[in-house]
Amino acid sequence: MPTAVITGASQGLGRVTARALAGRGWSLVVDARHAGQLAEAVDGLTTVTAIPGDVTDPAHRAAIAAAITPLGRLDLLMNNASHLGPSPQPALRSYPLAEFGQVYQTNVLAPLALIQLLAGPLTAAGGAVVNVSSDAATDAYPGWGGYGSAKAALDQLTAVLAAEEPGLRCYAFDPGDMRTAMHQRAFPGEDISDRPEPEVAAAALLRLLGQQPPSGRYRASDYPPAGLRSAGPGAADPGADPAVPDPAGQQNATVAR
Ligand SMILES: NC(=O)c1ccc[n+]([C@@H]2O[C@H](COP(=O)([O-])OP(=O)(O)OC[C@H]3O[C@@H](n4cnc5c(N)ncnc54)[C@H](OP(=O)(O)O)[C@@H]3O)[C@@H](O)[C@H]2O)c1
Repeated sequence: MPTAVITGASQGLGRVTARALAGRGWSLVVDARHAGQLAEAVDGLTTVTAIPGDVTDPAHRAAIAAAITPLGRLDLLMNNASHLGPSPQPALRSYPLAEFGQVYQTNVLAPLALIQLLAGPLTAAGGAVVNVSSDAATDAYPGWGGYGSAKAALDQLTAVLAAEEPGLRCYAFDPGDMRTAMHQRAFPGEDISDRPEPEVAAAALLRLLGQQPPSGRYRASDYPPAGLRSAGPGAADPGADPAVPDPAGQQNATVAR
């Protein structure tokens, strides 16, 4: 049975992706800080181990790694949990340095620490690391200097990891705008109802994982649904959506909340 670790699975992209993979027969180890929300997010899923905690806490990360051992394999590490920083986001000249450090702890240090802990079983399975990125990693938006530079560091970390670890597929995945709690915090008071639901990006990620492209940086928009593909990285499979390992025989299962 394929197995994944997904951080930040109580809401948004992490929650949708976790429920979609569990629906396809994957075993999962998931986390988030708020235990009640996490339990609600995985309610009814029988192949999911939920471990409440903070990815910046070494003891919590060790608990995640320990939960993988009895499952016997690890095919995917999705570093999805993220910290935006203050809202509204401050300009760099007045950015509180303690907050800046916290943004880096969550978005860069914790993902690397999990990669270090889990590289053994991931490599043994020929698995994948997905580090969830952002367009703020590549575009310079005023106010996004903390979060954006941390995501840029995560992108470069992903690229170097790919160069060092030919036995792993290493992806920086930019999901695009999503109508989530984090996005609302980034745009306080704004109506974000025109942003796509996280189901759209999660479905693109599953298509990417199914196609197993070379390590690199990909956007959700590179992996549109079948029928909307023209060219580019996601165009390799013009037929049915590809087979994310799916022992339950539900290759085209709808991404479920
Ligand atoms: N939303 C967007 O428009 C957008 C755009 C580009 C990139 N992204 C990226 O996409 C990913 C998912 O974002 P989202 O919008 O889905 O976020 P979200 O809805 O706010 O969910 C974030 C998840 O991460 C958990 N989390 C946060 N800090 C954590 C920590 N220190 N330890 C463990 N869990 C933690 C949260 O639960 P707790 O609060 O209970 O811990 C929650 O489950 C992030 O990497 C984000 O940077 C988002």
